This record gives sequence, structure tokens and C-alpha cells, in this order.
Amino acid sequence: MKLSLTRACCRSYTFPIFRKPSSVLPRAIFHQSLSSSSSSSLKPKTPLFLRPPKHSATFSDLKKWHDWANTLAYEVGSSFADSDNGPDSSILCRELKWLLEDSLEDNSLIPHLGIENNPNSVKLRIALDELYGLWKERIEKRKPFQYLVGCEHWRDLVLCVEEGVFIPRPETELIVDLVNEVVRDNEQLRNGIWVDLGTGSGAIAVGIGRILGSKGKVIAVDLNPLAATVAAFNAHRYGLQDVIEIQQGSWFETLKGFEGKLSGVLSNPPYIPSDDICGLQSEVGKHEPILALDGGLDGMDDLLHLCNGAASMLKPGGFFTFETNGEKQCKFLVDYLENDCSGSFCNVSIVSDFAGIQRFVTGFRRAL
Ligand SMILES: C[S@@+](CC[C@H](N)C(=O)[O-])C[C@H]1O[C@@H](n2cnc3c(N)ncnc32)[C@H](O)[C@@H]1O
Repeated sequence: MKLSLTRACCRSYTFPIFRKPSSVLPRAIFHQSLSSSSSSSLKPKTPLFLRPPKHSATFSDLKKWHDWANTLAYEVGSSFADSDNGPDSSILCRELKWLLEDSLEDNSLIPHLGIENNPNSVKLRIALDELYGLWKERIEKRKPFQYLVGCEHWRDLVLCVEEGVFIPRPETELIVDLVNEVVRDNEQLRNGIWVDLGTGSGAIAVGIGRILGSKGKVIAVDLNPLAATVAAFNAHRYGLQDVIEIQQGSWFETLKGFEGKLSGVLSNPPYIPSDDICGLQSEVGKHEPILALDGGLDGMDDLLHLCNGAASMLKPGGFFTFETNGEKQCKFLVDYLENDCSGSFCNVSIVSDFAGIQRFVTGFRRAL
């Protein structure tokens, strides 16, 4: 199976996956609550664009690096695309421009790179030899661009990400719109407690944290301690430390005491069938955390667990959205929610993503 993401003119690319050692997920080992302002023993890396411009290089040395990097990108041609739907030269050249933009203190200097014998020097946020190393990793190891620069543009947010943490995808952005629609005319839900299960970089949590009412709250949970740390960093960066509580743990296990009280349950869980993982793009398969990708034999392990949990955790009238792999999983989930969950849910429906692919299953906890 090939996963690829493209969004015209925006920073995006394609992702890989790792094979999990077994189809059974390690359930709830940690139950640690991290305040989004507190520091844990893990420190998130500062993304390139937020680092101070403490390095300098001459124009001609920067131009030499740029010419070298461009040549590597051109040499790739369509070879990655042909082998696993990876990026071609044109995408890599676009990424190279973004890397330059994030590295330079003054982007207005970029057009001057082409001028030979420019005697001036430039201020950089990263040393030139590190830029050589980064671009080698991009081309030779197929390391995702987002891990090079330490961020991803998602909706109107710039979210920090790093190796070990799932890079948020464009299709997931729609979850925020779905929640917005539901809370717009429902003050009770808008001021209630929402959970983002498997929060990763905190994308969904930060997205909805900004649209809830003044009493609304988001609990963002992830089993991966690095993801929890990065999510806390992103929540704090957007001033949402009092709205979003980060918890490290497995799915609903840290949420004891909230049974029947949640206004919303949201998740983009791992949903790739284990056997499809080896066919993913190198950027995804070799570099993104397997914990974020592998959904077991048919990709449904976590989705079914989330449906069962939502039945007991949502309050009557509470809303849920789960992202899936596509039409087959959506249809399976709808059937399960309607026929195997003791009539717990109503208004269950499938929502397509921006590409027209059936992607999300949404619904409400039936009122008692
Ligand atoms: C596909 S990623 C989605 C991340 C983020 N919500 C997004 O959309 O960008 C799935 C996330 O679920 C987390 N995860 C996997 N198993 C989990 C579990 N048992 N409990 C909580 N989180 C888990 C992974 O660490 C990963 O961050």
C-alpha cells in the first residue's frame, strides 16, 4: 500500500510506516499527566525557524551549498516516485527553498543567491555544515522534510514535530471543522470536556482548543512520551496551557472518573493494516513511529477499541469523530456502531476528506 500526501503550494509530502512487533497494542503503561507548561525529562527540539540566527556564512559558501543541494535534488529525478510514490525532483527543490527560508534570518536575501561574487555574509539559524548533513539525510536516508526543519504547517498553525512523533496530515484538518460545526449552536458541548486520543503533536487538541467556549477543555492523550512532550510544547506555544491538559497513557485508561461526562471523543488512531506497512513510502516506513501507524491485522484494532470506549465515556448527546483508512474501514465501523454497540449511538455517518475519500466516521451518543 502507498500512502502519499500532497497539497498544492503548501508544505506537505508523503509518509511511511513501521511494522509493529505484534498486532496487539501495548495498552496503558503510563498514566502520567503533563501540564502543558511543565517540563518533563524529555525536551522537545526547537524547530529551525524559532532558533536564533547565531551562525553566519559568506554568500558564496551558501551558494555553493545551495548548488550542491539542488544538484542532489535534480539527480533524484522520478526514481523515488517510481519506487514507492516518494517525492520527485520538483518536490525536493520546493523543500530546498523552504529549508533555506527557515534557515536564513533575512529571506529577502534569497533572490541574491544567484549573484556571483556577492561579498556580503548572511546570518543563519543553523551552521552551514549542518545544512550539508540535513540535506544528505533528506536525499540519502529519505528523512521526512518536516523532521529536518522540526515543524509542519497544519491549518493556520505551525506545529513543532520531531523524529519519533507522527507528522500531522492535511486530511486530519477536517476534524476541527467537524467539531466547529457541532459546537457552533450547542453551548453545552462547546463548554464541555473533549478528548483527543493519540494526540501526536497535539494538532487536533490545539485546533479545537481554540474554538471551544471559555469553560471548554481538551484532554490530549498519547502513549508515546515524546509525543506527549511535543504536544505540551505546541499547546503552550499557542497559549492554550490552561485549556489543554496533556496525559501520557493508553486511550481511555487515564480518564477514569470521566465515564458518561465527555462532550466529545476525537481520534486519528493508527489504522494501517500491518501487512500494508512494508509498502509505504520510505519517508513514512523508515522514519515515522510504528506506534502511530500500525492498526493490526485489518487496521481496525484501535478503531474498535475507541468505539467501545466512546459508548461508555460520552455523555448523552456527546459527539465523536474517528479518522479511518478509507471506505472499507468507514463502512465496517458504521455497521459496528449501529449493530454491535447496544444502540449507544445515533446519527452515525461517513464524512469524506478534501480528496473525496470516505475518511471519517462521526456520530452522537444517544440521549437516554
Ligand atoms: C496516526 S497518529 C495521529 C497523531 C495526531 N492525532 C495527528 O492526527 O496528527 C496516532 C497516534 O496515536 C498514538 N497511540 C498509539 N497507540 C496508542 C495508545 N494505546 N494510547 C494512546 N495513544 C496511542 C501514537 O503514538 C500516535 O501519536
